[in-house]
Amino acid sequence: MRFSESFLSELRARTDIEELIGKYTEIKHRGTRTPVALCPFHTEKTPSFVIYRDTMSYYCFGCGAGGDAITFIKNIERLDYTDAVRFLCEKAGMNMPLDPVDDEANRLRRRCYEANREAARFFHAALFTEEAKEVRAYLDKRRLSPETVKHFGLGFAPDRWDSLVKHMKTKGFTENELVLFDLARKTSKGGTIDNFRNRLMFPIIDLRGNVIAFGGRVLDDSKPKYLNSKDTPVYKKSQHLYALNLAKNNAERRLILCEGYMDVIAMHQAGFTNAVAGLGTAFTKEQISLLVRYCDELTLCFDSDEAGKKATKRALSMLSESPLKLKIMHLADGKDPDEIIKTQGKERMKNIISSAVNDTEFALNDARSRYDVTTEDGKLGFLNEAVTVLADVNNAIERDLYASKLASELDVEKKALEAQIRKQMSFRKKARENAQFGDALKTVLGEEKKTSPNPEAAGNVRAVKAEEIILATLLKHPDYLKKLSGFLSADTFVTEYGKKFFTDITERITSGRSLELFSFGESNENEEMAYLSYLLAKGETIANSLEECRQCAATLTEEKSKKNAPDIKGLSSEEYLQLFKNKRRNNKPEGV
Ligand code: CTP
Ligand code: MN
Repeated sequence: MRFSESFLSELRARTDIEELIGKYTEIKHRGTRTPVALCPFHTEKTPSFVIYRDTMSYYCFGCGAGGDAITFIKNIERLDYTDAVRFLCEKAGMNMPLDPVDDEANRLRRRCYEANREAARFFHAALFTEEAKEVRAYLDKRRLSPETVKHFGLGFAPDRWDSLVKHMKTKGFTENELVLFDLARKTSKGGTIDNFRNRLMFPIIDLRGNVIAFGGRVLDDSKPKYLNSKDTPVYKKSQHLYALNLAKNNAERRLILCEGYMDVIAMHQAGFTNAVAGLGTAFTKEQISLLVRYCDELTLCFDSDEAGKKATKRALSMLSESPLKLKIMHLADGKDPDEIIKTQGKERMKNIISSAVNDTEFALNDARSRYDVTTEDGKLGFLNEAVTVLADVNNAIERDLYASKLASELDVEKKALEAQIRKQMSFRKKARENAQFGDALKTVLGEEKKTSPNPEAAGNVRAVKAEEIILATLLKHPDYLKKLSGFLSADTFVTEYGKKFFTDITERITSGRSLELFSFGESNENEEMAYLSYLLAKGETIANSLEECRQCAATLTEEKSKKNAPDIKGLSSEEYLQLFKNKRRNNKPEGV
């Protein structure tokens, strides 16, 4: 046990879960018993994320995220359990008890941070050595100022087999560590060589200022152009954005998403310090949740070639459920921002940024580019597509504006256009009506439809429901345990989760330990914490009566015997015979 129950219960008492979560997402119905919010862990337009003040837990009926304040901080700040507790401790103005036991995973992560920091220092210093003359000339050619080089901590991986490995060894790092942190790799002959050689190095820095990975660019036209760190104990490339550490504090809450390292750096150097980029992977959901925390408006700045257009469309469709205001820049002639700034200057870039269009205009432009609107057929084709685009626009004024523009552009009756849009909208509205009703609201009203997050729920609907009612009731009324124990034991439960949590809860009740969600966190994984918070949420919508528990126990016994005894009536004669054979084999004494 790392933390005492008295410590945890004080921390719990001093933590306001609603206020805590409110820092990451806007909460509706603040201060009520069940405030709801847009889930900060997935993107959605109607709130499915419920906060339960009484049990100090949260559960998202959209994505299944759930837990207590510690689980929340673990997931949203990507901290481990101990660091999440430390985070809450600082917030609550409390002291961490004793230095908690340092486990192996933690130690490894710390080593990885240290190694990356040391490697970044090494690469940066190498940039100013004699052998980096050409690299410095390359940086000049690309117009990167010394300040920019320093600001981004750029470096050089020397053109030798093992300069980093040698250096890191003098600093106490082992070859195995370097391989694990993807700074080096083993050769077939058993040697260990640098992973990055003769490359311009871009350190990737997380939001707390730790170096977590590297990108390395070749200095000529050889391939691969970029080499990126693989995932390590501290790095998952789908979960970070390049330069977000520098861009996150922009007061306007606007970010520009570019395609690459060089674009971001050129943008920052030109004064557009709110530019970020992905890290050599396609845009991910995790990156969206990260963006949502730091901006309200996102401008996509991808190349204007076919690949760039495709990436833009893909990103837009992924972002369609997000609350972000979206804009799309148009970069002519397949140029990237780096080239535009270099050849046409920052004023030009500023104009391009300010003439970025919103997603409706982008979709209209895109549709228009696919038709020849000088012909009747082309005009009709474009109009049909335009109607589906405009039917998606929620703002009536905006819709009206585009309808007017289109009508005059194509010389058609605005009234006819509007009628088509309305028809399309009412069609979609019907389809959406059910989904529109936030799942959260349904839960609060006790009409939740979502299936249980129990991994075995699919094949055991009836049993899982019974298990959950028992567990949820026990969490609310621990005193029922005595009365139930006559006909209920861990064996009564059908699923692994059922058994596990019944055992855990029972042990806690009999040994007088806390049943607060807060005290479960240390020995349970995120999924299990989410399940417990789901049970707590369920406890709000059921009767929580002894009688109901008794019925559920009976249901479980019934379900269990159904599972154990095959339905003989439904068996074919071969199956029946097989069953008989199995039985005989099972009846043989052991060892025969
Ligand atoms: N990328 C990558 N691996 C490659 C090529 C590209 O990971 N082999 C990623 C990098 O993050 C890169 C981004 O895709 O920054 C965009 O690629 P590209 O446009 O080719 O590079 P630029 O950033 O424009 O670099 P440069 O201007 O130096 O050519
Ligand atoms: Mn480029």
